[in-house]
Amino acid sequence: MAESNTDTKSSNQMWGGRFASGPDAIMEEINASIGFDKKLFAQDIRGSIAHATMLAHQGIISSDDKDKIVHGLNTILSEIESGNFEFSRRLEDIHMNIEARLATLIGPAAGRLHTARSRNDQVALDFRLWVKEELEKTERMLTGLIAAFLDRAEEHAESVMPGFTHLQTAQPVTFGHHCMAYVEMFGRDRSRVRHAIEHLDESPIGAAALAGTGYPIDRHMTAKALGFREPTRNSIDTVSDRDFAIEFLSIAAITGMHLSRLAEEIVIWSTPQFGFVRLSDAFSTGSSIMPQKKNPDAAELVRAKTGRINGSLVALLTIMKGLPLAYSKDMQEDKEQVFDAAESLELAIAAMTGMVRDMTVNTHRMKAAAGSGYSTATDLADWLVREAGLPFRDAHHVTGRAVALAESKGCDLSELPLADLQAIHSAITDKVYNVLTVEASVASRKSFGGTAPSEVRKQIAFWRARN
Ligand code: ARG
Repeated sequence: MAESNTDTKSSNQMWGGRFASGPDAIMEEINASIGFDKKLFAQDIRGSIAHATMLAHQGIISSDDKDKIVHGLNTILSEIESGNFEFSRRLEDIHMNIEARLATLIGPAAGRLHTARSRNDQVALDFRLWVKEELEKTERMLTGLIAAFLDRAEEHAESVMPGFTHLQTAQPVTFGHHCMAYVEMFGRDRSRVRHAIEHLDESPIGAAALAGTGYPIDRHMTAKALGFREPTRNSIDTVSDRDFAIEFLSIAAITGMHLSRLAEEIVIWSTPQFGFVRLSDAFSTGSSIMPQKKNPDAAELVRAKTGRINGSLVALLTIMKGLPLAYSKDMQEDKEQVFDAAESLELAIAAMTGMVRDMTVNTHRMKAAAGSGYSTATDLADWLVREAGLPFRDAHHVTGRAVALAESKGCDLSELPLADLQAIHSAITDKVYNVLTVEASVASRKSFGGTAPSEVRKQIAFWRARN
């Protein structure tokens, strides 16, 4: 039997076990968002100042009251920034915490701030402003990551490595080309970020609870003051829309997926078996028991953070999918998902940028691996098509026999004696050896977007000009 509690507000015996007091405390705990939405304090104050200024401009409140409100809000801003603000869970959320403090500071004038608005448009505004800033930050961070890749690509435009399909050696490529593949991915992510900023660049304030307001407000004025392109066009949609948050999470998930593929490659490349790259001490850890180890923990955690971001996206999609228009309290659950994903994404991009900049590339290991596994077999087939006029399918067959022979002799294609090659097909001459090296192979792939160093340099120049 649970400990008895004589307090009339004691927790319910059936379902209140973990609560210190009665149902109203449970209500407070499930209802309050201050624990996480205090992060929105600066946006909330900025929005309120713009709103009060507009109300005074429109003659809805006196300019004297507006001055008091603005002064009070600025005082609260510095109180919060300096850690001298007491947040109260009883006051539920950031909006009511700030408004209550404003009343203490300036008296009855505080009560006029909430004219012609509701917490529904207020929270939509605060959160949009926050997500917009986060998207702008993401854009800058992606630019930094792209710059890191461009530098490594330039340095390694000629460094040959194996290109893989099915993680089996396929054809030689350059490390510069491989780096540029990530530039394309993160470039697309960045353009998704830019589009998302355009989509959300509309001001929600003035939609009020859901229907707009009878006061003669000027929503264009507040939109401009807050740096939005224009006000939103439908008050019902304005207070029920969280697309901007979901779009942020979708972009975070796609970017995370790219980061995670890169992380996986770094994990593989840094194994002693591959030895393609060596991570700097700054981005790896040792083992507490095995002294020889150097672990790619940062890459592994980037890979893991991606799982977390995906979880946030699915959570918010699921929260929203059943909600009738307009606002429902379910929507309060949007923030933690976005805050958590934003933190993970920032960390992941920062860690990846550091790893890419710092890692040592072992070009000898890469080149040796590029030449093994008969990676120039396609070059032999192409040579037979080009120089001996064979149809590609026949050339493929001839090459297959050459590979089988080399395999049985335990040597490379370029090490097969000419007589052996000619026994397979009489049209083969000693000129074929010119295409069997990995350098010749990559240099020949000059098609637009191909791996030839000359082509990779063109793509680097293209991206430098737009980064
Ligand atoms: N804390 C709330 C949220 O984050 C603010 C909006 C409350 N609106 C309401 N009608 N109760 O969604």
